[in-house]
Amino acid sequence: MGSSLVEALVDLNAHVTIIDPLIEGLGGNLFNIRRVSEMVKVTHKDVRDAEATHRLIGQSDLIFHFAGQGSHSRSMDSPEFDIDLNIRSTLGVLEAVRKAKTNPRMIYAGTRGQIGQVTREVDESYPELPTSIYGVNKSAAEKYCFVYARHYAIQVVSMRFTNVFGPRHQMKRPDQGVLNWFIRLALENKTLEVWGGKQKRDFLYIDDATDASLKAGIENRAVGECFYVCSGRRISLISAVRLIVKTAGAGRYIVKRYPEKEKGYEVGDVLLSNKKARRYLGWRPSIEFDEGIRRTVQFYRTNLRFYV
Ligand SMILES: NC(=O)c1ccc[n+]([C@@H]2O[C@H](COP(=O)([O-])OP(=O)(O)OC[C@H]3O[C@@H](n4cnc5c(N)ncnc54)[C@H](O)[C@@H]3O)[C@@H](O)[C@H]2O)c1
Repeated sequence: MGSSLVEALVDLNAHVTIIDPLIEGLGGNLFNIRRVSEMVKVTHKDVRDAEATHRLIGQSDLIFHFAGQGSHSRSMDSPEFDIDLNIRSTLGVLEAVRKAKTNPRMIYAGTRGQIGQVTREVDESYPELPTSIYGVNKSAAEKYCFVYARHYAIQVVSMRFTNVFGPRHQMKRPDQGVLNWFIRLALENKTLEVWGGKQKRDFLYIDDATDASLKAGIENRAVGECFYVCSGRRISLISAVRLIVKTAGAGRYIVKRYPEKEKGYEVGDVLLSNKKARRYLGWRPSIEFDEGIRRTVQFYRTNLRFYV
C-alpha cells in the first residue's frame, strides 16, 4: 500500500521520504517503486528507532504511517512479533513526530479487523471487539495515535482498511492478502484451496484505498476521525475465487471445511458501511470488483517473477 501512495504523491509533486528496512516476510519490494525511485528519498531505517525517524521526518507536513505487519494468523503464532511491528512501530513514529514544529498530519493504516464479528451492517460507532491479536494491536496503536494527537501538535486520521487487493502486493505468503495469493496459484495453474467459501468479504481495489488516503491528507474534516475504508460490496470468497480462475484462464479450486485453528479469529461476513468515509473525505470507491481482478491478473501475468 505504501508504494502505491508513494507513486501517487510523486505524481502530485510531493517531496517523499520512504522509511522501510524491508523486513523479511512482509510485502516491501523495491520493484514497486521502480518508476519513481530517482524522485524519492529511500532509507532503510526502522521506524521503531524514533531518533532516526525524527531526523528523517521531523520537518514533514504529512506522514503516512503504513509500517506494520498485516497477518492475523502470524499475530496469533507470534504475538510479540505483532506487538513489535504494529505497536512499537507506531510509538516510534509518534515519538518521532511529537516534537515536530510543522503540526504534521499523520494518516494511520488501521484495519477492519479492529471490529470483530458483526451480524448487521455497522459503522464507526460500533464497539471494537477484535478476534485476533493483530486486531487488538492495530486498535491499540490507533488509540496511541489519538492520545498523542490530544497532547501534542499532531493531526491524526485513522483509516481502517478492509481487504485491499491489487498490483504490488506480496505473493509469497497465503496469510496476508488472500486474493493475491489465489491469483498467484491460478497463474501457476495450481489448485486454490478455499476454506468455507460462503463468508462474504469487502474487497477494495488498491487505487481506491490510495485515493482515500490522499483525501485524508487534505480534508480538514477528517482530522481526529476514524473511517472504515471499504467498498461497501459483499462478495463471497467462493465467487471471488471463481472469478479469479476465469480471469486467469488457469487453475482450479476445491472447497474445504474451515480449519479449527483459523476458525477462532474468522469473523464471518464483513458488513461495514463506508458512508462516513464518503461524507467526510468526499471519496467513493470507483473500481468495480471484476475490473480490479482483471487489472491485478494482468499486472502479475507480466510481473509475477518479481513477487515470488
Ligand atoms: N493490505 C491490506 O489489505 C490491509 C488491510 C488493512 C490494514 N492494512 C495495514 O496497512 C499497512 C500496510 O499494509 P501492506 O498490505 O502494504 O503491507 P506490506 O507487508 O506490503 O507492507 C508493510 C511494510 O511495512 C514495513 N515495516 C514494517 N515494520 C516496519 C518498521 N518498524 N519500520 C519501517 N518499516 C516497517 C515492511 O518492511 C513492509 O515493507 C499495514 O500496517 C497493514 O496492517 C493492510
